[in-house]
Amino acid sequence: LHGGPPPLSAKVEGSFAYLTVRDRLPTILTRAIDTIHRNKNKFFEEFGEDGVQAEKRTIGFLSKLRNELLTDKPILALCDGLVDTDAWNQYLRRQQSLVGERDSVSWFKSSWLYVECYMYRRIQEAIWLNPPISDFDVFHESKTQSFFESQQAVIALCTYLQGLNKNMDNLSETQLTEQFHKLLQVSLWGNKCDLSISAGMENSQKGSPIDSLSDLKSFILVDDSNMVWSALSSAQKQGADGQINPVRVDIVLDNAGFELVTDLVLADFLVSSGLAKEVRFHGKSIPWFVSDVTAHDFQWTIRQTLAANHKWMSKSGVQWHSYVREGVWSYHDHPFWTMPHEYCDMAGDAPDLYTTLQGSNLVLFKGDLNYRKLSGDREWEHTVPFDRALRGFQPAPLCSLRTLKANVQMGLQPGQGENLSAQDPGWMTSGKYAVIQFSSPHRE
Ligand code: F6P
Ligand code: MG
Repeated sequence: LHGGPPPLSAKVEGSFAYLTVRDRLPTILTRAIDTIHRNKNKFFEEFGEDGVQAEKRTIGFLSKLRNELLTDKPILALCDGLVDTDAWNQYLRRQQSLVGERDSVSWFKSSWLYVECYMYRRIQEAIWLNPPISDFDVFHESKTQSFFESQQAVIALCTYLQGLNKNMDNLSETQLTEQFHKLLQVSLWGNKCDLSISAGMENSQKGSPIDSLSDLKSFILVDDSNMVWSALSSAQKQGADGQINPVRVDIVLDNAGFELVTDLVLADFLVSSGLAKEVRFHGKSIPWFVSDVTAHDFQWTIRQTLAANHKWMSKSGVQWHSYVREGVWSYHDHPFWTMPHEYCDMAGDAPDLYTTLQGSNLVLFKGDLNYRKLSGDREWEHTVPFDRALRGFQPAPLCSLRTLKANVQMGLQPGQGENLSAQDPGWMTSGKYAVIQFSSPHRE
């Protein structure tokens, strides 16, 4: 059940995985080192000489890590005693047993998904082992900057949302469906704006997200959004005695900045339209893949929106703040989201999280990394059905909203992948194309 084709790996020279490990990851590390160095005065002001010493040591740890990566050294066990340290070391032993004692598990030889996740976990170790700066987020500045750079797009979106909310009671069923599709697509394309694919360089939303939807439509390679809609609307009708069932949607978040705003807007619409009673957001418990959402980013974004100097933006922020206060919205993180596991391992390795997701009526998985973990980041044929690549991971009806940034794509029509490769060789990694793929435990 849990097998499948081999995982993508940097051992294939010239592959996207290879280029990521060779070029993009060292660049991200270099930028992390620069950021820590630039904050030296701040550490001094906050912690005195201890702060400066911690800055030096952290940079030493990260330079060593960068060197290990560049020279393809064996992956080392973690030694920071955090909640997930044993699980990581156990995972390393699992990888070791796959290659046998004579070979080593290393950056360019092992699976790309594993080593890329490991790099972010080692950054966390470097920071954690160096108090008093142990809660510093090296990616915080890039995340906040990308939020501010998308300001006009955020304003356009919040204005649209408030207009919609004002009119909600007058919407026909058809109009409601139409708006749902629109905001699902806005959230989908929000995923273009991540800072890992750009190695931390600026990558924000400039134009109005709503206006560009029709031009982008032809770049959605698989669009199961009708099934997502049916899953949501039928969930409501499953209540006993004809009562409306309280629907819960879970959003497994990806990036902070513009993408998070698109997710909050979608979640707002789900609640204000009555399609859902509760939305649970799942974020990361440590800084991850440069721009992924942490608890701090989640709260920060709502606070910024609330305090904005724009009527509709701040009105949206006020609403979001009260959803959180009332528990209609809630934020959760679980260490499993920052482990290297493919999601078919969740039931065995994080059964509590799996059980939690089983209580949902719809789980939305945002972004490319989630897609890689859903599929195990493996070399699937493009025509393999999405359901099959999930290999038993079916806690609830689920949907992946993903722009393509890695060489893995299933669920295409025969010939579709070949045609795309002929027209646009970079189609799987440019972020230009996207998919909305649905899977339900009840679907044959
Ligand atoms: O390093 C590049 C990359 O790792 C992608 O290939 C990866 O999956 C992506 O960055 C992160 O994208 P997202 O934020 O959509 O998960
Ligand atoms: Mg991301």
